[in-house]
Amino acid sequence: MPLSVVILAAGQGKRMKSDLPKVLQPLAGRPMLEHVIRCARELGPAAIHVVYGHGGERVRDALAEAPVNWVLQAEQHGTGHAVMQAVPGIPDDHTILILYGDVPLTRPGTLGRLLDRTGETCLAILSVKLTNPAGYGRVLRDTAGRVYRIVEQKDANRKEQAIDEVNTGLMAVGARALKTWLSNLSNHNAQGEYYLTDVVAMAVKDGLRVEAVLAPTAAEVLGVNDKIQLAQVEAEHRRFQAEALMLAGVTVVDPARLDVRGEVEHGRDVQIDVNVILEGRVKLGDRVRIGPNVVIRDCEIGAGTVVNANSLLEQSLVGPDCVIGPFARLRPGARLAAGVHIGNFVEVKNSVVGDGSKVNHLTYLGDSDVGSGVNVGAGTVTCNYDGANKHRTTIGDGAFIGSGAMLVAPVTVGEQATIGAGSTITKDAPAGKLTLERSKQVSLDWKRPVKK
Ligand code: UD1
Ligand code: CA
Repeated sequence: MPLSVVILAAGQGKRMKSDLPKVLQPLAGRPMLEHVIRCARELGPAAIHVVYGHGGERVRDALAEAPVNWVLQAEQHGTGHAVMQAVPGIPDDHTILILYGDVPLTRPGTLGRLLDRTGETCLAILSVKLTNPAGYGRVLRDTAGRVYRIVEQKDANRKEQAIDEVNTGLMAVGARALKTWLSNLSNHNAQGEYYLTDVVAMAVKDGLRVEAVLAPTAAEVLGVNDKIQLAQVEAEHRRFQAEALMLAGVTVVDPARLDVRGEVEHGRDVQIDVNVILEGRVKLGDRVRIGPNVVIRDCEIGAGTVVNANSLLEQSLVGPDCVIGPFARLRPGARLAAGVHIGNFVEVKNSVVGDGSKVNHLTYLGDSDVGSGVNVGAGTVTCNYDGANKHRTTIGDGAFIGSGAMLVAPVTVGEQATIGAGSTITKDAPAGKLTLERSKQVSLDWKRPVKK
């Protein structure tokens, strides 16, 4: 049967105490709802319908790229009411999988098992056993162990409240039957809401079997209502990502202190020290070593390169066998060839640096083309900005830039040229020569002022 996914995301999330709608609260740097959509997509559904309400356009705008059908639930009258908004757009012969926008850690494999149990004559719910089931709907089973109803916490009697198997809210069911049951829902209950969970008793009454599939871990079905639970899912996500890297051969010094917020591709024998954040798309070659307190966002790093402590690398391409940092900053568009050294307090932006060049201390390279075998002395600045426009600096192969040079762009330093320390270079410096710009050193007789 073709699959349609319905994601419920209209709830307000009062307990977040935030201006940001609940489903947009970030998990690993992305809105929670995006994680749910990604998981749903892995199941290859015919369509994904997102029921939204609170936060309205903000939610839609934040996920404008997502291939989903947005369904507005202007007023929230319960989970059953929410699903009612989406079903008119779903063909009768589809299976409907219902997910929550605030349950972001469910794995596609778990949902696959739920779908395996669903059919014309069978409805499947995902349940979980909790040591503290308070607040959740409870799964009621008859003496033969067959599920016959779900009762909400607020409608449950003492005996029912003692049941530890709870409804996660995730459910898979045939569209035709669901449409009929939804149209028969009433809101005569403790909360005056249309409960989706009431379809379970209706299914049983119509002679269908209800299967409760137990979630493999409570973490997978953890719902996020407040910032404490948000931190809990973040920690689970962190652990899962770090474990996946370790299983693939990466040495992670402390999995609790590595945050992967995106996709990491890596070679063999990669080592990652503590307090590292890898964001977006990160590619690490064989034997790359990353020191402590490093942030890498959307970068590709070549084999054998070492990134030392406290460095920040963004949208950069780093070749093999480079040494970066400590305290280095690679800004977007830094492209380093092989064996390049970028040292402490060096910033590189939108610049190409050739093989074996060294820029080791206190330097700014912006909008520059640096050849190979170049040595850039401490405290060098490419003055790329005239207050209105950016200009490029070109430095030829084998050039040596003395410390404290100001290279006022647009300017070219030729191959094998040498620039004297402290020079302000405003005109092209020819290849092979020593160019310097320096006022004459004088020594005067002089009396230091004294304090009165
Ligand atoms: C629901 C289940 C309960 C289950 C629990 C698991 C019902 C009646 N109860 O209870 O059995 O144990 O989830 O967390 O289904 N939503 C809408 N529109 C609405 C109402 C809710 O989109 O009108 C969305 C919410 O944003 C949320 C989800 O549906 O993502 C669940 O709603 P919530 O109010 O948290 O349900 P519970 O009362 O906790
Ligand atoms: Ca809830």
